[in-house]
Amino acid sequence: MLLSERLASEGRVRVYRGVSVVDGTGAERYVADVAVEGARVAAISRTDATDAFDVPPGTVEIDGTALVLAPGLIAEDAAGGSPLVGVTTVSGVHAASVMNVAASGSAHGSAQGSDARAAVPRGGLSLEDAVRLVSAEPAARLGLDLGDAPRGVIRAGAIADLVLFDPTELAPERLRTDLAPVEVLVAGVPVVADGALTGSQPGRMLPASLPPYLATVPAVQHEVYSDRGMFTLRADTPIVADAELTGIARQLGDWLQVGAEGSDASQRPSITLRVSDDVSDDREGFRITVAPTLVEVAGATPEGVFRGAVTLRQLCTPESPVGSELPAGTWTGAPAFGWRGAMLDVARHFRPVDDVRRLIDLLAAHHLNVLHLHLTDDQGWRFEVPGYPRLTEIGAVREATQLGHGPQATVQPGRHEGFYTADELRGLVAYAAERFVTLVPEVELPGHVQAALAAYPELGNTDVSEPATSAWERFGINHRTLAPTQAALDFGYAAIDALCGIFDCEWVGIGGDEVSTQEWTASAAAQERMLQLGLTSVHEVQPWFTRAFVAHVRARGRTALAWDEVLEGDVPDGVRLLAWRGPVAMAEALRRGIPVIGCPDLEAYLDYPQADTVDEPIRVGPPLPIERAYTLRIPDGAVGGQANVWTEHLPTRDRVDFAMFPRLSAIAERLWLGGEPGSFDDFAERLDVHLRRLAAAGVQYRPLDGPRPDQRRPGVPGKPMSIEQRTEIVDELVAGLRR
Ligand code: ACM
Repeated sequence: MLLSERLASEGRVRVYRGVSVVDGTGAERYVADVAVEGARVAAISRTDATDAFDVPPGTVEIDGTALVLAPGLIAEDAAGGSPLVGVTTVSGVHAASVMNVAASGSAHGSAQGSDARAAVPRGGLSLEDAVRLVSAEPAARLGLDLGDAPRGVIRAGAIADLVLFDPTELAPERLRTDLAPVEVLVAGVPVVADGALTGSQPGRMLPASLPPYLATVPAVQHEVYSDRGMFTLRADTPIVADAELTGIARQLGDWLQVGAEGSDASQRPSITLRVSDDVSDDREGFRITVAPTLVEVAGATPEGVFRGAVTLRQLCTPESPVGSELPAGTWTGAPAFGWRGAMLDVARHFRPVDDVRRLIDLLAAHHLNVLHLHLTDDQGWRFEVPGYPRLTEIGAVREATQLGHGPQATVQPGRHEGFYTADELRGLVAYAAERFVTLVPEVELPGHVQAALAAYPELGNTDVSEPATSAWERFGINHRTLAPTQAALDFGYAAIDALCGIFDCEWVGIGGDEVSTQEWTASAAAQERMLQLGLTSVHEVQPWFTRAFVAHVRARGRTALAWDEVLEGDVPDGVRLLAWRGPVAMAEALRRGIPVIGCPDLEAYLDYPQADTVDEPIRVGPPLPIERAYTLRIPDGAVGGQANVWTEHLPTRDRVDFAMFPRLSAIAERLWLGGEPGSFDDFAERLDVHLRRLAAAGVQYRPLDGPRPDQRRPGVPGKPMSIEQRTEIVDELVAGLRR
């Protein structure tokens, strides 16, 4: 009989969902600290403890997601350096419990021991290390941190673990030695019983999580030599770099929290950055070499060095890089695609400059190299255009905003406004460039223009629509368009000129999606103008605009970026397409030899809900769980891909974080690796570590098992649909492109 079963039968243990919790009564000879979701609910610090805990019924709400019992006696032992006793099972995060088992003379509990795990120093995990490894966000959130080390081990995402120690083992003189667990339950399954391994592997719980240096996201190639020593990162580790790399050295120093860059290699173990032509044919290629006395980050170009530096940061402990021990080895990488991006819609909801900077940092941390800013839409105009001051005076403001989606949506009063000055945008361009991210601007033309029309109604089809008086307070497809006039063209040219004067990249977005022909059909003025222009159908009006805007962009020495709807007309040379309407649009662009970026909505629209449950905030569109994002496949011949983050229902930075992460991490990996998607399980194992990186960066990501209560939006109506329904809609949209 299991010890826990016997205790249960004696009424000394409560069993919740197969997990045993030692009750206070009579149980004082056993364990320990109890933490539920990182919150310590009970503690016992001595075998004869008078503060033997009681778990009041109802206070422990075990929903199967988190329970850790740790022996409280480790407190007395903390001074002793490396007490292996008492570090309770932390399965799923690090092999701490397995270490205990190993240290007590048993074999490793997991048959999945790979090189990865073999590289973990066996039995060498100090209590402090263990706590640092396992203390994640919930611990911090609940005010528990390293200071709680003596009292227990807390970790994020634990399922339910229990360790019972033989009371005779808890004699004080044994505390500093190898205390052997007699029974370990993981998720209710005994993995140790009677002091011996049972061989059971309870689901995914038993394998230790990977060390960070084997868990980069995106994945890079690595070879680790665990027998050739370790490099230890210290606060005074110098970073040595040539003049052209000092900016990267400074950033790396900030990320690693290590000493200033220097120009000469000292005697101390150091980190060296260098450009080298033997690294990769790809300008972004890099190679990190680690030896006990040296880390070298070599790149084919400074950009490659930067990608390597980002990777080096990932090799270190997310929460506190100093002290990280990296095994000797090499890590190499180069991207499959040159365009690896994310689009942020700052028109529906404006994001302040600081938030855009932070997002640039986060993109760079994922080897993403494009931030596409969707700067205008019906709901807001966000940049200055010389000669058109009302765009920002009127077009950048709205006094109310739709809440929710579908027939039950309401419109809530409340001013929303914001725009970027030209100087702010120039500052962002420079900030991004230092991080090897290209900022790509987009102005929406000739549809999605209500904010502009509110400022300059005369640019619209004034004979068929009431003049717009404000940026749109609602969401959806808006039928307002520019009138096919010279004044409208001149306005578009001025907007493009303004962007060319600020942004130095090759591309300028000119929009082109979801442009209604309704007003052109109804407008006598538009019809007359079409006659003058020789346009025989309203479907020729958008291509007329496109030709003009593309030519203007080309005259400025740039390439126009447009949504794939422009495929419905002849696409002039000098256009790069954003294929958002599935594989059909992508295939058509490739067939016509047009450079194309894949952002298929079913895999890359990060405003779509992350699961098919009511807990997801404001569900609009089909479910797009991270597993699906990880299936993103960009065909050969495309220039790359990007995720699109539409912000109708993402009014705050936290909401944007929630929608973006960790799905953007999955997409970043897909864009870096290219080809067919690999195993999600392999990604998921690394994601486990990567979530700690996101948490350490303060990202309010969506937990894998669903939104936290404060991340839900109960009562706000949405408009979810199935993948099949959405597929049907997209099929309809691209019907004209099918051949
Ligand atoms: C789009 O989603 N309308 C490009």
